[in-house]
Amino acid sequence: MNVVIIGAGYVGLVTGCCLAEAGHRVVCVDHDAEKLAGLRSGRLPFHEPELVTILGEQLASGRLLFEDSVARAMPNADLVFLAVGTPSQTDGSANLENLLRCANELAATAFSDCMVVVKSTVPVGTGDRLEALLNENRDQHSGHPRIRVVSNPEFLAEGRAVQDFRHPDRIVIGANDAGSAAALAQLYAPFDVDGMRLMFMDRRSAEFAKYACNAMLAARISMINELAGLASGFGADIEAVCGVLKGDPRIGGSYLHPGVGYGGSCLPKDLSALITCAKTIGEPADMLCSTQRVNNRQGRRLLEFIREYFRGELRGKRIAIWGLSFKPATDDVRAAPSLALIRGLLNEGALVSAYDPVAMKAASLALGATPVVFGASAMSVCEGADALVLMTEWDEFKAPDFKALAMCMQGSMVFDARNLYQGSMLRQYGLQHFALARCARP
Ligand code: UGA
Repeated sequence: MNVVIIGAGYVGLVTGCCLAEAGHRVVCVDHDAEKLAGLRSGRLPFHEPELVTILGEQLASGRLLFEDSVARAMPNADLVFLAVGTPSQTDGSANLENLLRCANELAATAFSDCMVVVKSTVPVGTGDRLEALLNENRDQHSGHPRIRVVSNPEFLAEGRAVQDFRHPDRIVIGANDAGSAAALAQLYAPFDVDGMRLMFMDRRSAEFAKYACNAMLAARISMINELAGLASGFGADIEAVCGVLKGDPRIGGSYLHPGVGYGGSCLPKDLSALITCAKTIGEPADMLCSTQRVNNRQGRRLLEFIREYFRGELRGKRIAIWGLSFKPATDDVRAAPSLALIRGLLNEGALVSAYDPVAMKAASLALGATPVVFGASAMSVCEGADALVLMTEWDEFKAPDFKALAMCMQGSMVFDARNLYQGSMLRQYGLQHFALARCARP
């Protein structure tokens, strides 16, 4: 099929590259000339495992093109994906400005039979609004068939997006007419789908399903973090408790790691948007609000523990940070707990040095002009440090040379925000271990 994707961001690029790999002809449209130039020469604007290889291969195959205008991309399009960002506004609601601008551009250019597929995460009812907007002036042009809008939310997780796309758990198709549903099913036919994984529903249900999934995931993290806090208060070991939880098939084994709270561009944003939308229909959304409160508290708790360890005086203390991205295998630092911690430490006069395998550039841009020192290696940022804070569970931090670490640090405390290390192991080298979700206060 001929596919146009508007928005060459994270979702648009993964979708475009993987659809081209599956044999479709894809044109990705974006207004950012610098980004397009990089993409045309095989450079990605972000880090995502495997994607750069697919980009190179599909550019070479000629099935993947990049354009700066919707009008130039549209001829012959069978379907158009809208994959632009819907970031949070100050009140927490989703900002639909980009999406509506693209829809207006489409309305002015798409005059043949065409289907619009919304990949962006949008409040329930946005598909209705887009369909009305796209067809507003069509009725007087009798030769132009109506544009149909379908919701096809994405469930990719950063760091494993290519694998998620190639082998989806489920593909949700929210269409209000059978023809659109069938066309989208045809698009996804080359993927590992067996009928069970294609889920057809009406458009509003599909839009809501996306929010429901992220709300459920966020709630699970806040629940395990709250339980971890209680466990440490009661002198119980949350890892042992997790083993028991995981043994119950109704609870399941994944997404149960206690830590510093969820970050990233999706869970915090989607939860805020859902809470804001809930207000518009008069629903209190108590669970969602608590989930958010627990998550915000989890990040603050870490800073409190560090402050307490230094008896309330962080001024002049050298703190090394391992890991800046909101999770491993990505350079994304949006809503990353590490940045909130760094800002808090700097505010109190601490001297911060940080290392991350891929996210230092993004972190430096996000932090702006700060005195944070970014080091060339994990060990180098620990030279003379009074404490180390492990913030992201990258593979290279999993089994560091503790002997070398103990020798280069001035202090001995390792704050482990991800429950990555065993305290007994660290103690062998004279290091102290404080696991945010495991121990009592240091
Ligand atoms: C999330 C969802 O997992 C995807 O299904 C969804 O498509 C995506 O949002 C989206 O809406 O686009 P993502 O934000 O990439 O994906 O990352 P996750 O792997 O879900 O992690 C989110 C946060 O939760 C991270 O900060 C991670 O460290 C934290 N987390 C995750 C935990 O603290 N504990 C866990 O057990 C799992």
